[in-house]
Amino acid sequence: MTLASLQKAEKKHLIQTYDRYPAALSHGRGAYLYGPGGERYLDFLSGIGVMALGYAHPAVTKVIRKQSGRLVHASNLFYTPFQAELAKRLCALSGLDRAFFCNSGTEAWEAALKFARAFARDRRKRGRVRFLALEGSFHGRTMGAVATTHTAKYREPFAPLMPGVSFVRFDDAADLRRRFSGDVCAVCVETVQGEGGVRPLSKAFLREAARLTRKTGALLLCDEIQCGLGRTGRMFAFQHHGLKPDLVTLAKPLACGLPLGAVLATDRVAAAITPGMHGTTFGGGPLACAVALKVLDVIEGEGLLERVRESGAYFLSRLRELAAAHASVREARGLGLMLALELKEAEAAKAVQKRLLERGIIINRTHDTVLRFLPPYIVTRRQIDQVVDSLDAAL
Ligand SMILES: Cc1ncc(COP(=O)(O)O)c(C=O)c1O
Repeated sequence: MTLASLQKAEKKHLIQTYDRYPAALSHGRGAYLYGPGGERYLDFLSGIGVMALGYAHPAVTKVIRKQSGRLVHASNLFYTPFQAELAKRLCALSGLDRAFFCNSGTEAWEAALKFARAFARDRRKRGRVRFLALEGSFHGRTMGAVATTHTAKYREPFAPLMPGVSFVRFDDAADLRRRFSGDVCAVCVETVQGEGGVRPLSKAFLREAARLTRKTGALLLCDEIQCGLGRTGRMFAFQHHGLKPDLVTLAKPLACGLPLGAVLATDRVAAAITPGMHGTTFGGGPLACAVALKVLDVIEGEGLLERVRESGAYFLSRLRELAAAHASVREARGLGLMLALELKEAEAAKAVQKRLLERGIIINRTHDTVLRFLPPYIVTRRQIDQVVDSLDAAL
């Protein structure tokens, strides 16, 4: 396996959905990924926010070995271990009441949209079908998820999309009030926008969304697929704001790279769902759920939330130094270890990303001009310094 042979084979055999970086990867350990020719990369993207514990975490590897020798899958027609235990754990951590498990972020979001519609119908509010989502949002690639995703290039080729979605200006409470009405079934937010450029929502906006939805009986949906499960230094990003959403979606780091998504709901919302209304063949399988329990053990047992807060504060302070030192940088921002450096020009951002990859550092770019950093929670100060020094040189 070489980069050139993979590029040739994929060009011929794959539907061309990805514009991959020019790097092949064969294995990983801790915060590092390795290529087949012995290349080594310091990974500040973590498989787009998935490998929060780093690669080949020994406790996770052990669980995979053990559970894969017992039961990987049996379907949701039967009772299998770990789903209920994982649901109980996630609910205790979030303050919500019940969970539904699926296989990805977009599936979790799709389920949350369906649950919101079902809840409105259950309350005999059949006309209450509209969703308010935010400009800059990204909720996934299935039809409901792209309908609530703002970026035109993800939506337009697939029209007509699910109707009834309006977009509110990002973090603009006045615009939210203007667009909100009695026929809204849910307000949809990423507590910290990821693909939209790593932008945390303000407490004032989130509180206003909670107030409006409470007033009419609409729901507040927090997409925490990227910002949840410790990424911002709290188990859930909405906990920075003292909020209790009605529905929360999770995925990325939940099962350390195995496909697993989750929707958390209040009892009130969950009561609208009865057997047969929604489901999945693979979701919540015993292997993925066993791993997810271990991920939560490690996050809590190894003090990773505190570590994310400390490392995140240090990294952000160093990014702010870069912003002050380089005229090409517009802003450094983010929360915990979900950070970004926004440059003024897309070409410059692209060039910086390329230069870092040549120096063996993986980051990515979102919204063209935004360099995004999602390092594993175990990242060290020395590794942060290495990345900041390389950014400094590249800028
Ligand atoms: C906030 C958010 N929602 C939904 C998704 C979709 O998740 P997935 O790619 O697992 O379908 C993503 C993925 O990047 C995301 O960041």
